[in-house]
Amino acid sequence: MNRIPRDTSGEPNPLAVLTLDDLRLRTSEKWRAYPADVLPVWVAEMDVPLAEPVVRAVTEALAIGDTGYAAGTAYAEALAAFAERRWDWGGLAVGRTALVPDVMLGVVEMLKLVTGPGDPVVVSPPVYPPFYEFVAHMDRKVLEAPLGADHRLDLAALEEVFESAVAHGGRAAYLLCSPQNPTGTVHTEGELIAVAALADRYGVRVVADEIHAPLVAAGVRFVPYLSVPGGESGLSLMSASKGWNLPGVKAAVAVAGPAAAADLARLPGEVADGASHLGVIAHTAALREGVAWLDALLAGLDANRRLLSGLLAEHLPSVSHRAGEATYLAWLDCRALGLGDDPAQVFLDRGRVALSSGIPFGTGGAGHARLNLATSPDILTEAVRRMRTATA
Ligand SMILES: Cc1ncc(COP(=O)(O)O)c(C=O)c1O
Repeated sequence: MNRIPRDTSGEPNPLAVLTLDDLRLRTSEKWRAYPADVLPVWVAEMDVPLAEPVVRAVTEALAIGDTGYAAGTAYAEALAAFAERRWDWGGLAVGRTALVPDVMLGVVEMLKLVTGPGDPVVVSPPVYPPFYEFVAHMDRKVLEAPLGADHRLDLAALEEVFESAVAHGGRAAYLLCSPQNPTGTVHTEGELIAVAALADRYGVRVVADEIHAPLVAAGVRFVPYLSVPGGESGLSLMSASKGWNLPGVKAAVAVAGPAAAADLARLPGEVADGASHLGVIAHTAALREGVAWLDALLAGLDANRRLLSGLLAEHLPSVSHRAGEATYLAWLDCRALGLGDDPAQVFLDRGRVALSSGIPFGTGGAGHARLNLATSPDILTEAVRRMRTATA
């Protein structure tokens, strides 16, 4: 069942607007980490112009010098309205939200609320590498419950790891990536209910990173973790950052389920001051007025997923790739190419194309590379051509 309302207002495909020359003017990480002869299809930035309402809102703020600290609940209200329309979820209560500087700092703050130093945090690799880095940096211990070979949550593995996580009597958390970066897996309602039941059985607290939630393919249903039976004690991080390409104007919202409201209430007020006021303005405009742009983007991403599958089948048939249901990232199993544990390094050295190495994504990452397909069909085609050159 497709419950996603689609806007058919004729927005152009944002992925087909900018040329390589336009993009090379950018000074962000994607475009400056490598020399100019390298084609970057790695870090999660999109090669798109921004949605016009976002540009307008930020430009107006700059014009009147509205660059102080963020105030109020406009972002959370816009997110609640979006969640209701998009995911049919009316349970995002603005009174159980807090502004946070960005998703990862929000994750750190939520984990601080429900665990202490030395406590375990369970993750399901392959998963976004900063999950490891931030958790280690905050003096928690990472435990892995890897996804199955089908890229879906392995509930038996999760139960085993939850059991060992609490065996010594401390507190424990599960940091869920939903949808999953890098595989694009959209966890089903049934899977999330099972996670909630396991978490309840073992007393593990769930923190869900739902930053990729707006980026779900046509016909696929995203289910917010806090909306499922048993998810009431969960904490979620949501943001317009990935959906509208706004990591340079950072902000995010932490959301507590009804049974986690008291935990979120312990979050120091100072944390909200870390969010950029311009970020809050940009994200609020995106959620309120950027839905037609998002739908045009999603149509472009669907087309790029099909294009990538065709290009790989034609030029690199031994690369195994299951088209994801969400995100704009493609997780490529390159083991059959015989390029060793880090094929991204070979693609870079021999083909001058930068993908993300699979290794930092944890168990299951070796022999894999992550490709960012939020770019023009021309650049995507050139990226695969360069990958093939590297294997020749
Ligand atoms: C799963 C996930 N969480 C968090 C982030 C980073 O978000 P932020 O910049 O808001 O910390 C990313 C960025 O790609 C991501 O993929």
